[in-house]
Amino acid sequence: MLSIAIVGATGAVGRECLALLDRGIVPVERVLPVGSPRSVGRDVGAEFGLDLPLDPLTTVEELAPDDLDVGLFCAGAEVSAREAERLTSAGVLVVDNSSAFRMRADVPLVVPQVNPHALARRPSGGIVANPNCSTIQLVRALHPLHELAGLESVVVATYQAASGGGLRGLAELAGDSAKLLSDPGTQSEPGGRFGQPLAFNLVPEVGLRDETGLTHEERKLVREPRKILGLPDLRVSATAVRVPVFHCHSEAVHIRLREPVTGEAVEKALANACDLRVYGRSAGSPYPMPRFVFGEAEDRVKVHVGRIRVEPEDPRAVAVWIVADNLWVGAALNALQIVELGVSYGWLG
Ligand SMILES: NC(=O)c1ccc[n+]([C@@H]2O[C@H](COP(=O)([O-])OP(=O)(O)OC[C@H]3O[C@@H](n4cnc5c(N)ncnc54)[C@H](OP(=O)(O)O)[C@@H]3O)[C@@H](O)[C@H]2O)c1
Repeated sequence: MLSIAIVGATGAVGRECLALLDRGIVPVERVLPVGSPRSVGRDVGAEFGLDLPLDPLTTVEELAPDDLDVGLFCAGAEVSAREAERLTSAGVLVVDNSSAFRMRADVPLVVPQVNPHALARRPSGGIVANPNCSTIQLVRALHPLHELAGLESVVVATYQAASGGGLRGLAELAGDSAKLLSDPGTQSEPGGRFGQPLAFNLVPEVGLRDETGLTHEERKLVREPRKILGLPDLRVSATAVRVPVFHCHSEAVHIRLREPVTGEAVEKALANACDLRVYGRSAGSPYPMPRFVFGEAEDRVKVHVGRIRVEPEDPRAVAVWIVADNLWVGAALNALQIVELGVSYGWLG
């Protein structure tokens, strides 16, 4: 039985961590919700309808590491960079959802279905990084294809939901959509959580642009799969787009393999991967869509892959369409599966 602090328990990812703990994903004897000073006094158990052994909400500065096994950080990179090592130096395992530590050599970047071996031993620095939400669903589909025929290069375009921008992103999309529906002449200014108005729009800039023209999100999509898949030379080209969808990220992915493949072999390799739902290639078969993936728990825990094609003129070129819940598969679920992995390897709890 574990004692777990959820840092950022009131946010979009934090509350999904609490919901998954409530469903018994890992056995807990104590859960400490942690928020900013704004949230002190909130009863998150009652607010979110939880049946967990919850302590009163505290701030991260007041969080004592005594008797704590895991600190699960979902409060942004600034909070992680400032507070995580205070907990690890007291022997707490930190699982971090932010980008603060992902590319550090001593920090494993883990997707349990892809590189569980990275956690065969407790990480020396006491930190495990959860990858970016778009990266997780991408590597979950790339991994079986790499095992089938070797990855040479990947081109990905993302269609990212507003929940990737946290509770504020969701509220902005709902508010702006309602305003525009009631008065289509409403003027919207640049700014807000996405830099541009998102309602009835597409924003091809997720995060700030660097001197090369890549956005932060695109840079993560290039670098993180290389580290997780252990392929430092993998060529990845990414375009990240925010779309006016509340939940679930989608990705159109073009993959070049080292060996020729058939459509049947690709479908079979994907279907054999853990918690990956394949939508067959036959005419008339359905394909995954964000509105339907965000619904039942059995769909929210899976990566959904459809529109599987092998180019008729080039049997090394494969295209797929991937949809997954960014809050579960892309964040809370992956983080708690990391905790589960530590328990199953026997070095945690
Ligand atoms: N949303 C996604 O799909 C997603 C996916 C993967 C990774 N992530 C990462 O997960 C993290 C959280 O994202 P989110 O979408 O959940 O954001 P969010 O909805 O804005 O929630 C932010 C959380 O951080 C807390 N917080 C802010 N400042 C704090 C402070 N000084 N001390 C303690 N807590 C503080 C907030 O508490 P208050 O309510 O008290 O302000 C809130 O609980 C980010 O690093 C994000 O990059 C998000």
